[in-house]
Amino acid sequence: MSMRPYIVGNWKMNGTRSLLSEARSIDRASARYPGVSVALAPPATLIAALREAVSVIGVGGQDCHAEAKGAFTGDIAAAQLKDAGADFVIVGHSERRAAHGESDAMVKAKAEAALECGLMVILCVGETLADRDGGQAEGIVARQVDGSLPQGEAAAAGVPERLSIAYEPVWAIGTGRVAAVEDVVAMHAVLRDRLVAAYGDAGNDVAILYGGSVNASNAAALLGAEGVGGALVGGASLTAEAFLPIVAAAGGEPVD
Ligand code: 13P
Repeated sequence: MSMRPYIVGNWKMNGTRSLLSEARSIDRASARYPGVSVALAPPATLIAALREAVSVIGVGGQDCHAEAKGAFTGDIAAAQLKDAGADFVIVGHSERRAAHGESDAMVKAKAEAALECGLMVILCVGETLADRDGGQAEGIVARQVDGSLPQGEAAAAGVPERLSIAYEPVWAIGTGRVAAVEDVVAMHAVLRDRLVAAYGDAGNDVAILYGGSVNASNAAALLGAEGVGGALVGGASLTAEAFLPIVAAAGGEPVD
């Protein structure tokens, strides 16, 4: 795969304007790693301001509605994210699947809506601890991705350049408990198979990221593993100090 490693920070429901200074520091330092594609997904309230504050990194939303507009109080359409300055959107994060009851079909519709309006998409999948302990992890994640992958014209035009998959085991998110590298490699191989089944050869070039307690100490091992195209980082993306070593782990020597 010729793509640059993709390191994305998901700020979740953290941050007010005072956190923009961290985004500026991340942006400045990321310019020194041209071999890495870096992006941040702040809360929706900060997308426009963050877009203004940075020049090198990508800016994204954390969710969008599947419909283009209408009576959906509190929701945000993909086109509105784009209008605010977003380049991409995360869909199907396990926190939304669990807390907002998002099904695979809903996630698929969101991904299609986002691609249709020109956003890139990071589609998240991952098993629970009960799934893994029950030996079901690969089957569950394969079914999730089969049900959530965007299809149709927008997908055909957007894959592989505008679609990434994030494998985030639910039990590894925010717990400090990171998946074993061999389990990550095995799951990424399952995801690759499903992508090729869905999209043919184009499925070989879709980036597959790992997410779940990625930090400065484990990033190099995870990012160096076979089939890992980058990382989706939660807690360690909130400060430049915690996030930049992960960017560095993906990108080798910085340029001056
Ligand atoms: P943590 O890095 O805090 O475990 O979060 C991972 C995540 O959910 C990113 O989307």
